[in-house]
Amino acid sequence: MSVVQHAKAYTEHDFGKTELTPAYRIDLRDPTLSNENIDKFINANLVSDWSQLTWKQVKKPYIVKTEAASKQQWESEHGTMSVKQSWEFFNRSFHEWFVKDVPTELVQSKQQLWRYLSRFEISEVKKALGETLRLSLWNYAHRIEDGVWDPRGKRALFDGLDVHKPRILFLGAAEGYEAMQLHAMYPGGEVVLVDYDEFCKTDRFGHFPDSYPFLGSNPATGQAKVWYKNQMNIHYVVDDIRNLPFGKEFDIVLSVGLLEHFPDEHKHEALNWHRKFLKPGGYAIMTTPRHQLKSVLFYKIMADVMNHTYRELMDIRQMGLYVYEGGFDILRHGFIKVHNGIVAKPR
Ligand SMILES: C[S@@+](CC[C@H](N)C(=O)[O-])C[C@H]1O[C@@H](n2cnc3c(N)ncnc32)[C@H](O)[C@@H]1O
Repeated sequence: MSVVQHAKAYTEHDFGKTELTPAYRIDLRDPTLSNENIDKFINANLVSDWSQLTWKQVKKPYIVKTEAASKQQWESEHGTMSVKQSWEFFNRSFHEWFVKDVPTELVQSKQQLWRYLSRFEISEVKKALGETLRLSLWNYAHRIEDGVWDPRGKRALFDGLDVHKPRILFLGAAEGYEAMQLHAMYPGGEVVLVDYDEFCKTDRFGHFPDSYPFLGSNPATGQAKVWYKNQMNIHYVVDDIRNLPFGKEFDIVLSVGLLEHFPDEHKHEALNWHRKFLKPGGYAIMTTPRHQLKSVLFYKIMADVMNHTYRELMDIRQMGLYVYEGGFDILRHGFIKVHNGIVAKPR
């Protein structure tokens, strides 16, 4: 499947615009030029003293139970899939959705549905209905609402960090989106993306559109500026996070949708990774999917696309308690469109 690229190059003259391409939204609405509060991080401010919060009060996260059919099929033939293999299945399956021409595929899938309906081919009707539903949901959640990349929410979450030309480490980077957004906002440093699935380097990051504009800042003027992937100083390391040779050398260590994939007995290890590579005074930034009804439905409907690995949905107090118990002081906690977000420093 080919990557949907758009030819147009965006510049500072396009500030204020938002446009839909067949695969995703372009969003160059500059928050500083608008009266609306469009870069949204809802500061939850729910907890002032994390040491007083208990698991009895907050309960444990919701565990997503529906598994992808491809995983079940594979396991019925070969036995239990390793965690790394399940990520390899996930990344190939998820990537396909980012490169779809969604409106065209939606039209085709509806036509297909009508053809099967008119011939009373009930099992094919069921499949076509499922595909139409998934495409409609993806169209709304990713393309129209921009809930997956959520550049405005991420910019608001990353806003106001005390860093200059930061070195940024992204753990479980996949296509690297959030580190590119951070690098655009705080330019001049370096991004290191880490993922043990080679496909993430070659395809998810490799085919991430060169023409996607990130709204960031111009180091010369401090004004807003459009940045592109190929203007950034990015290194992609394909390795297990447990093997990384780095010391405490990064200003920001970031993960997006990583912590919720570790059952409780492994959460401490995952949280340690966020501390291990941080300079004194550096920031750990983490997000996890929110436990809300629409997310529960999303992971049910998209199970065949998404559910190859262990996954929890949590609220911000549950996430915060994990992070606090993992040895961090929480500077900000709240939520963006579909994720919780935390900015923290090691205690
Ligand atoms: C759920 S993804 C992160 C979400 C991401 N934003 C996306 O769009 O898919 C987690 C990533 O972490 C990687 N990963 C998990 N455990 C890892 C480990 N121990 N070392 C390196 N990468 C790891 C997986 O390969 C996967 O690409």
